[in-house]
Amino acid sequence: MQRPIACAAAAVTALLLTACQGPISPDAAMVLPEGDAARGQEAFVALQCTSCHVVAGVDLPAPAAEGPVRYTLGGEVTRIRSYEELVTSVVNPTHRLARSFRQEELTQDGESLMPALNDVMTVSQLVDIVAFLQQQYSLKPRPTYRYPTYRYGADEE
Ligand code: HEC
Repeated sequence: MQRPIACAAAAVTALLLTACQGPISPDAAMVLPEGDAARGQEAFVALQCTSCHVVAGVDLPAPAAEGPVRYTLGGEVTRIRSYEELVTSVVNPTHRLARSFRQEELTQDGESLMPALNDVMTVSQLVDIVAFLQQQYSLKPRPTYRYPTYRYGADEE
């Protein structure tokens, strides 16, 4: 009777160890509920995100007070922000600093100037804001170059 229990315990331990060591399984991915973009736009304004951000192509009311920076969200970008990146940017701004040539202006001592509003923002506001922001990005078409065609021996003909 003792043995099966010991075996089961060993198997569970082994499983736990592998689970800890292995790569994160795609099944374990955290999935937040679907957001509402219209409500997200309202939350974006209500939480004063507009004091530092304008959103490309979206007319938003002016903020009550101007923040220390102006940083445009959305618009044409060379790489679309993923859902995960947007969530991270909002709840943990310093972890995912926007890659920008204005880095010095946007950070102080390596920390984002953006405050994490985690103690104020509800989870619903977060998912709604992300749904709103996701719609704002569009992929900038890559410039197409026309290379002249060279043929070997063309001069000799
Ligand atoms: C005090 C100014 C300030 C406020 C307020 C602010 N942000 Fe930011 N935000 C920044 C700065 C500076 C950056 C760029 C540096 C970085 O990535 O943290 C940024 C970056 C971001 C990014 C990443 C952009 C990218 O290009 O990847 C998102 C998304 C974002 N903010 C959303 C928000 C939302 C949503 C709010 C309101 C809840 C908000 N911000 C409030 C200053 C601010």
